[in-house]
Amino acid sequence: MILVTGANGALGTLIAERLAGRDDTVLGTRSPQQPRRLPVRHIDFDEPGTLSKGFEGVDVLLLISAGYGEDDTVMARHGAAVDAAEKAGVGHVVYTSLTADGDHLPYALPHRWTERRLQETTMNWTILRNGLYAELLGGLAAPTADGRIVAPLGEGRLAAVARADLADAAVRVTTEAPAHAGRIYELVGEQAVGGADLARTHGPHITYEPETLARARARVAASGAEPFQVPMLVGTCSAIAAGFMSRTGGDLRQLLGRAPRSALAAACA
Ligand SMILES: NC(=O)c1ccc[n+]([C@@H]2O[C@H](COP(=O)([O-])OP(=O)(O)OC[C@H]3O[C@@H](n4cnc5c(N)ncnc54)[C@H](OP(=O)(O)O)[C@@H]3O)[C@@H](O)[C@H]2O)c1
Repeated sequence: MILVTGANGALGTLIAERLAGRDDTVLGTRSPQQPRRLPVRHIDFDEPGTLSKGFEGVDVLLLISAGYGEDDTVMARHGAAVDAAEKAGVGHVVYTSLTADGDHLPYALPHRWTERRLQETTMNWTILRNGLYAELLGGLAAPTADGRIVAPLGEGRLAAVARADLADAAVRVTTEAPAHAGRIYELVGEQAVGGADLARTHGPHITYEPETLARARARVAASGAEPFQVPMLVGTCSAIAAGFMSRTGGDLRQLLGRAPRSALAAACA
């Protein structure tokens, strides 16, 4: 049996749509009351009591990272999930991690910690090092009502990847898990996208105006973001602006068996 955690999240929803109709798959979520096209179990990494029952009979666990929080919170969540999977006799864990080029990002540490924890288990594992979503970039650099994209991306570009492609890759690996045991896949896009590219794609009247990190930090802090979110968002832009996130290529095309979707189209949708 396959179990997908985080099934009500954006990535989990896309994955659940692709797995609908299978008779060997269940969804794990903190909100099990929401009706779905597959059986649902209550899974909350912050409530380890849900995990021993939730992981019963599971052969392949698709562990979608639960990454919104301070590092210690996220590591505790993922640690609880891996501990419970071991105890429940899960055979294989597929984990959605972060691209290697993301090591400069403020949220890299819990991903690398989880990768290491998985590699120490006796379970089989596969690590999907997901690139940053095109949709995330589109949100960080969305046009204002008066047609300006104001973001601290400088001239930097991101090897952005459509979330739907990451869902397709995760489904392939999860449903063919034994063939992917012990593999680490780099799933970045094939198109590096920057602020000026986004402006051009949105239309002729849209301009891109790079801002400083200091201005962006003040803007994000004043927006009501949680304290941990401020360095997350500003640090993401900083790494893109500094040119650390633009490397394209990797394993995406091979796992998809086709060309990736357009990152620009996904970012500007
Ligand atoms: N590559 C990127 O650009 C990028 C960008 C943002 C985030 N991420 C990471 O990738 C993950 C999936 O992305 P997404 O777009 O689907 O994010 P999302 O829409 O925010 O979904 C995150 C999901 O994580 C699950 N979750 C949160 N806390 C949990 C907990 N205590 N126990 C179990 N599950 C918990 C929830 O699923 P349920 O509601 O079903 O319980 C939540 O909906 C994120 O959680 C984050 O770690 C990656």
